Amino acid sequence: MTTVTVGHLRCEYLEQPLGIDVSRPRLSWRLFGDQRGVRQTAYRIVAAPSADDVAAEQNLLWDSGRVESDQSIHVVYDGGRLRSRQRVFWRVQVWDAHGNVAISPIAWWEMGLLRRSDWSASWIGAPLVGGRWTTIPAPFLRRSFTLDAPVLQARLYITALGLYECTINGQRVGQDLFTPGWTDYRRRVQYQVYDVTDALHEGENVIGVILGDGWYCGHVAWAGRQNYGDRPKLLAQLMITHSDGSTQTVVSNRSWRYAFGPILESDMLHGESYDARLEFPGWNMPGFDDAAWQPVDLFAAPDIAMVATRGPTVQRHEELRPINPPTAFPSHQVTRWVFDMGQNMVGWVRLRVQGPAGTTVTIRYAEALNPDGTIYTANLRSARATDHYTLRGDGEEVWEPRFTFHGFRYVELSGYPGAPDIDAVTGIVVHSATPPTGEFSCSDPLINQLQHNIVWGQKGNFLDVPTDCPQRDERLGWTGDAQVFIRTAAFNMNVAPFFTKWTQDLEDAQSPEGAYPPVAPLAGISGLPDGGPAWADAGIICPWTIYLCYGDTRLLETHYPSMQRFIAYLERSSRDFIRCYEDYPGFRGFGDWLALDGSGRTDGGTAKDLIGTAFFAYSARLLSRIAAILGHQRDATRYRRLFERVRQAFITRYVTAAGRVAGETQTGYVLALHFDLLPPALRSAAADALARDIRARGTRLATGFVGTPYLPHVLTDAGCLDLAYALLLQRTWPSWLYPVTQGATTIWERWDGWTHDKGFQDPGMNSFNHYAYGAIGEWIYSTIAGIDTDPEQPGYRHLILRPQPGGGLTAARAALETMYGRAVSAWRIDDHRFIWEIVVPPNTTATAYVPALEGTPVQESGRPAEESEGVTFVHRDEESAVYRLTSGTYTFEVVQR
Ligand code: BGC
Repeated sequence: MTTVTVGHLRCEYLEQPLGIDVSRPRLSWRLFGDQRGVRQTAYRIVAAPSADDVAAEQNLLWDSGRVESDQSIHVVYDGGRLRSRQRVFWRVQVWDAHGNVAISPIAWWEMGLLRRSDWSASWIGAPLVGGRWTTIPAPFLRRSFTLDAPVLQARLYITALGLYECTINGQRVGQDLFTPGWTDYRRRVQYQVYDVTDALHEGENVIGVILGDGWYCGHVAWAGRQNYGDRPKLLAQLMITHSDGSTQTVVSNRSWRYAFGPILESDMLHGESYDARLEFPGWNMPGFDDAAWQPVDLFAAPDIAMVATRGPTVQRHEELRPINPPTAFPSHQVTRWVFDMGQNMVGWVRLRVQGPAGTTVTIRYAEALNPDGTIYTANLRSARATDHYTLRGDGEEVWEPRFTFHGFRYVELSGYPGAPDIDAVTGIVVHSATPPTGEFSCSDPLINQLQHNIVWGQKGNFLDVPTDCPQRDERLGWTGDAQVFIRTAAFNMNVAPFFTKWTQDLEDAQSPEGAYPPVAPLAGISGLPDGGPAWADAGIICPWTIYLCYGDTRLLETHYPSMQRFIAYLERSSRDFIRCYEDYPGFRGFGDWLALDGSGRTDGGTAKDLIGTAFFAYSARLLSRIAAILGHQRDATRYRRLFERVRQAFITRYVTAAGRVAGETQTGYVLALHFDLLPPALRSAAADALARDIRARGTRLATGFVGTPYLPHVLTDAGCLDLAYALLLQRTWPSWLYPVTQGATTIWERWDGWTHDKGFQDPGMNSFNHYAYGAIGEWIYSTIAGIDTDPEQPGYRHLILRPQPGGGLTAARAALETMYGRAVSAWRIDDHRFIWEIVVPPNTTATAYVPALEGTPVQESGRPAEESEGVTFVHRDEESAVYRLTSGTYTFEVVQR
């Protein structure tokens, strides 16, 4: 008897989202069933205004009818037009290949405020104090109001230019940090929606909001303050339905009052200063006397888009305890206490302290230590990264900053009354709420630590936008960095909503000419409209990767016109298809950033026009595929031809008849091979040249941000798997494992961030938490463990399972939570037997490459594989026996010779 159930209902990737503004949301679900071959053959969705209506199948907003289809993700809602604030309940019924029928539980989604006119609130804030370059205290805003009847339902729609933290009757609303998130505030701002029914009661209620500068008017990178505006502003609308059916709306307006209180300054780069003596106890509770508070200022509504939150918000995720009691560095004036959190992390510390009123504790943050054990802060550049807490003096005090974050492993306290113990600080780890989806481990502990470092680099740098680094005065959404890391990111965590939001930032930042920028959101810093090769191309590569990993065609559709503008821009700005040609008057790009073959230059040794032309070809080719997917056949052909032309220009210009690529750099070869820019007959000569160069350097790479991510794939595809493993396992500098052997807990920006001979690299640019080189993660998952998606059936609808053991590893295991469910590939070599456990999620299929030499029998769960249920023999190649699998759990076994 086979049984199938259906559940895990999602709308726009989210579980019961509150406040979305997608007019035709996409619905996804999962099938569950342990037996092999679970496959959906048909579905029916019903949607209605209430759960009862769904159950009774009445008053339906949408009845899809029975649809003969195996589609179980991204099914587009096709019912009645959705109104602002409407909640839609839905469920799905599925039929499987064995005639089973299953019905899901009922789920819902709720619409946000879809029209401008839905907002009756006004923008409010405090008057400006201080000047453009000084930091200003955070205003506290409050409004008391009375409810005459019990509350049936209440929603808070809220946003800010700046950051807000909202409380109702003293209770914090939601778990989200740094709301409303970072967008280009000159164009759009996100709002959040909260169900605050339980926070309200009959009688007096108080809504209290603290505003922070954040990205809006605080320091951003090296651009100073006020890149978007001069002070933070709030917009809030509380919409209440009483049990008698009456409604009441409380909005931000002139009736609110403000005061400046304990937060003396609060800045994302510089830190927060808090004087607890200036607190006003009970300020956000009923009964507080706000006679001394002043009426707020009112501001004209900015002419920008107000959009529902697209991406995951930043939240707190874990807490770290220092790994040792602090080390004291006494001097005649002050003792400094240094704590080691044991992990380079992003967030802040919770301080625990007791002492006389007026004592100020200073908290500084650093990623590394000087040789004498004091904190090393030179690489933070101008970021002060310092918090101050001044005590009330009334017993134990516990404090955390609100509107700042730091990237650090070490924490220094000074001014602490007495001697702090190990629990004086607790690390609070924050990042965008991108749920973990991937796991990887293998028999080599150093590679496991590398994987750990990649994940922590991702945590720390997925903070509302994909940032380059979290610690110095930078923390920008660098497009190149995001592009090289996105595939790895999509293994480790569900980043689809995160990139749905950020690709919009990218489009918002596109120049009128069609160029994509070096950073998004634009922070008013760069003046550079064009990010150049490998940076600007993020505008195509990122949506494409989200399509590959999550089957998301809508993202392609949304950005298609923008991508077309980009390619048109490249066509116009290139000369004879060479992009960034030598005397190109514009920006020629960052080159192969931080490659080691640039004789000391940060942009590496590979010619910028070569990189430019290679990425021009690649982007044109991707756009051709995207056009075909979206059904634009003529465009597909046109971009395909463009690709061919650029490719030909590349060959003519950079490739010799002997297969040498101009400049003979590793990255030059890597791009030519990976982007298919060589005549087929010359591929192996080029791969040989690449391998020779690596060997000549003592099995070492010389690549930077651009070449490194593709390097192991290129070697693997060229039949040099051993060399790919040798590079991965290389422990001496430069290599992925060198930092690991030096105790790194995140990925370094530079191969030589710190070396035995030279100590710290140039403090002007030396982050110890930069995810770019973590892009090796995608090779680790897809080649060591062997999990990949068929690009023709994206989103792991059809898995390609092809582990390629090597490097002396005796075991590797990866699991990936796909849109369809959990996929697993776990192999071990045990007494000359290769044992491989596989899980293929329900409603998907897989092609499994079992490493088995010609003539070696392959067993599955103790039977000859071809006799096993769910297994179909496809063919044999030199290295493997290839099978097609239905969903289910399998164990293959082969004797290795
Ligand atoms: C950033 C990068 C970025 C680069 C551009 C650096 O300052 O940290 O990671 O991609 O500039 O060249």
